[in-house]
Amino acid sequence: MKFNLFRAADGTEGGGSPAGPPVIAAPPVVHSSAPMGPTKIAARDVSVFYSGKQALYDVTLDIPDKTVTALIGPSGCGKSTFLRTMNRMNDTIPGAKVTGRIEMDGEDINAKSVDPVLLRARVGMVFQKPNPFPKTIYENVAYGPRIHGLAASKSELDSVVEASLKRAGLWEEVADRLHSPGTGLSGGQQQRLVIARAIAVEPEVILMDEPCSALDPIATAKIEELIDELRERYCIVIVTHSMAQAARVSQRTAFFHMGRLVETGDTEDIFTNPRERRTLDYITGRFG
Ligand SMILES: Nc1ncnc2c1ncn2[C@@H]1O[C@H](COP(=O)(O)OP(=O)(O)O)[C@@H](O)[C@H]1O
Ligand SMILES: [Mg+2]
Repeated sequence: MKFNLFRAADGTEGGGSPAGPPVIAAPPVVHSSAPMGPTKIAARDVSVFYSGKQALYDVTLDIPDKTVTALIGPSGCGKSTFLRTMNRMNDTIPGAKVTGRIEMDGEDINAKSVDPVLLRARVGMVFQKPNPFPKTIYENVAYGPRIHGLAASKSELDSVVEASLKRAGLWEEVADRLHSPGTGLSGGQQQRLVIARAIAVEPEVILMDEPCSALDPIATAKIEELIDELRERYCIVIVTHSMAQAARVSQRTAFFHMGRLVETGDTEDIFTNPRERRTLDYITGRFG
């Protein structure tokens, strides 16, 4: 099959049918610009339907650990839908159905034995609009560790809150007002608070759906810096409509179009030497 010549370097299919010859028919090259962990999440033939209408088609993708993977593509192409399959958030949408297989560390996350609430602690999620609870800064971060029994005493809980806020790069700005409402913070601070809340329950994966879209450039730069730091410890998947952001923060990029994964590879390759015409058209702003 001719299309197989243009398989991604990691062996996954580009997905869908070829839209014409790639612009630059270079053979796949395995780069190792960034130290990447082993596969953390493996999606195999994942499709999603909303009330019977298919939104995602047979997505097969490996997401490496200790790496930032960017999901890019025009609005409505299925980025958020795919992101939600990784922590079973589609379960919460009436009429949504997911087929195919998603493994985390080799374990089927859709198995009956998997508790979605525990899964969502392991696979945290950050949304476009910062969504702190209407509680104090301290309580926002303490809530998860408390319900999951991760702290045995008040002082242990205090330490978890402090460590999480530090790791989210927010501690210095809020240390003196831990008991004021989280909703009183600026947008960028709220987004870091939400990240601290996700970190507090010791996740392995952090999913971010356009986490900077509602932020100004300075707050955006802070979040991007933070994402780069978090990469050392976590598997991070970020949906972004900003090519520049994908290029800045990610090591791997997956390009989606009309519900299909068109192409995936090292970010540098996707942005300089895409294999698919549709990818080139999108990253050069010809559509989307
Ligand atoms: N809750 C939902 N109910 C019905 N259709 C949905 C829902 N969420 C998304 N869709 C549809 O699925 C497709 C993919 O949407 P989405 O994953 O949100 O795309 P993206 O995040 O790339 O903009 C779109 O056609 C969208 O209208
Ligand atoms: Mg979306």
